[in-house]
Amino acid sequence: MTRRPYIVGNWKMHGTRAMLSEARAIDRAAQRHMKVEVALAPPFTLIHPIHREAEQISVGAQDCHQADGGAFTGDISATMVADAGAKFVILGHSERRQGHSETDALVRAKAEAALAAGLRIIMCCGENIETRESGSAVAFVRAQLKASLPAPDEALADVAERITVAYEPIWAIGTGTAATTDDIGEMHTEIRKLLVELYGEEQGGEARIIYGGSVKPENAAEIFAVPEVGGALVGGASLTADSFMGIALAAGEPTDH
Ligand code: 13P
Repeated sequence: MTRRPYIVGNWKMHGTRAMLSEARAIDRAAQRHMKVEVALAPPFTLIHPIHREAEQISVGAQDCHQADGGAFTGDISATMVADAGAKFVILGHSERRQGHSETDALVRAKAEAALAAGLRIIMCCGENIETRESGSAVAFVRAQLKASLPAPDEALADVAERITVAYEPIWAIGTGTAATTDDIGEMHTEIRKLLVELYGEEQGGEARIIYGGSVKPENAAEIFAVPEVGGALVGGASLTADSFMGIALAAGEPTDH
């Protein structure tokens, strides 16, 4: 079974209620592009208002706490984001690994909490420029994912539907320069092998692997033509309906793989 391309906007810390009109425009456009699964991860404060109005797109969170509740001032649990209407959560983004010192073990605990709350997860991974230049990017990403993804378990059902991996090389995020199609192809092929090792051919072979890092309408088609690229996690270019849906449109075009 081939899954629809998955195009997810990560609004990061951008967006007040003034942005709801943009989310509406994205939702309307998504209704005309049903070949693509479009989703938005706004700041926590906009999850519920966007969810309430959305007819086509799904809404997700950019993080959640690993505990279900308790004395954690300022934190938000997976159950809470699900209650607000989130259907998925982005976890292990490099901006959280770096800015909030999130370890692989913590990211894994969050992933387990999110799945237990009924959410789908988008598990981010990616190397920094020093690791890329030293030639150890593949080994780094494999180890990072192996330690961050939920351990294979009989209770972990429907991995292919519920777990997406996002490869986001840190040096390509917000720089305007995406990774080359060769680098993306090599890494996604390695990630696929790892997913099959962890979860088996049936589930690991089907889970989506999406690319993130300076994806824009101008480079989207060539990125989506790379084997094993099942969509994109888009930062800056997801903030306007025009550029975000330009990317979604490119994902809906037939490719030769
Ligand atoms: P940009 O698309 O702005 O490079 O951000 C990518 C990203 O970090 C998405 O999670």
